[in-house]
Amino acid sequence: MTTIQKVFISEPIDERGMAILSDKVEVMLAPDTRKETALALIGDADAAILRATTRFDRDVICAGAKLQAIVRTGIGVDNVDLEFAGKKGIYVCNTPGTNDETVAEHVVAMVMALSKQVIRMDRAVRAQQWHERFSPRQRDVKNKLLGIIGLGKTGLATAHFCTNLGMKVIAYDPYVANPLPDVRQTDRLEEIFSTADFVSLHCPSTPITHKMVGQQYLAMMKPSACLINASRGDLVEEEALVQALAADSIAGAALDVFEQEPLRADHPLMAFPQVILSPHVAGSTKESNERIATAAAQAVIDTLTGLVPKHICNLDFFPADKKAKVLHDPKYSFS
Ligand SMILES: NC(=O)c1ccc[n+]([C@@H]2O[C@H](COP(=O)([O-])OP(=O)(O)OC[C@H]3O[C@@H](n4cnc5c(N)ncnc54)[C@H](O)[C@@H]3O)[C@@H](O)[C@H]2O)c1
Repeated sequence: MTTIQKVFISEPIDERGMAILSDKVEVMLAPDTRKETALALIGDADAAILRATTRFDRDVICAGAKLQAIVRTGIGVDNVDLEFAGKKGIYVCNTPGTNDETVAEHVVAMVMALSKQVIRMDRAVRAQQWHERFSPRQRDVKNKLLGIIGLGKTGLATAHFCTNLGMKVIAYDPYVANPLPDVRQTDRLEEIFSTADFVSLHCPSTPITHKMVGQQYLAMMKPSACLINASRGDLVEEEALVQALAADSIAGAALDVFEQEPLRADHPLMAFPQVILSPHVAGSTKESNERIATAAAQAVIDTLTGLVPKHICNLDFFPADKKAKVLHDPKYSFS
């Protein structure tokens, strides 16, 4: 008798991904994103699909004695202990290329909403403050300078969209060469913060980028400039950002990600009308969710049918023999 393999899913994924899984494996959808819940369920799972909130640390991975793959929807794998999973020979995969332009569109929406004061004007009409139209805070975006930190997939897509809006773009990324002719690359982070009208963060969370944007760089920004973060919350020192906003030393911010998610109701960032907040949705649209769920489900099915899945993020931590086997698999691709 063949046993049916089980897949733990931390939060619902799009139905297209569910359809790929449903006739091949048994799905265990977690009722919530708490660690205790993951610990209670993971022992039965042959693979897991995670969204951003649930953490797979050593305890959870240890409890998942049968786990063969942990697949993260989207890019960020910072909620998984890559090294520990790798040493156990468990694939940790992500789904790159499924929401880069989706994130970039969200950043463009933030640039536009900050420039055109969309949220503030909406509130003004509802509060019978029609006179707001006589004190326009709105700005054009054409010819404004966008500073991009991290020129990977979302950074490049954002640069591309914004140059097409007539914005000028400057970028900082010490690890890549800029392929876009309309984008100027600088090796000085200071230049980005001191000259840009919008600074948009597009880096992963690493020991170097952790709390990268603190008082030092915020103090360099022009009083008319805004900070945008749709990458990872821990890149920004939130206390320093709150101080900069309170002192009006920057004009505003648009934040999709936070040091702690969900953002608590009494968090000081909630109080600023010049701050636009969204609940970590920059990469989520109907279309991107379909692409992400399809890719995540396929990685699980590939693994459970003995194939090497795409987009493995922790191969370097694998035992040498298993790593060599993957690298010599004719179907394995680094892309
Ligand atoms: N808010 C969302 O819904 C959402 C959706 C997708 C991605 N993200 C996050 O956005 C971030 C970027 O995603 P991506 O797909 O563009 O990643 P990517 O890997 O394609 O690009 C990241 C870039 O950051 C650069 N970088 C690394 N350290 C840097 C540093 N110290 N200074 C400057 N640049 C540095 C890298 O060289 C790379 O080019 C990731 O953290 C990802 O998790 C968020």
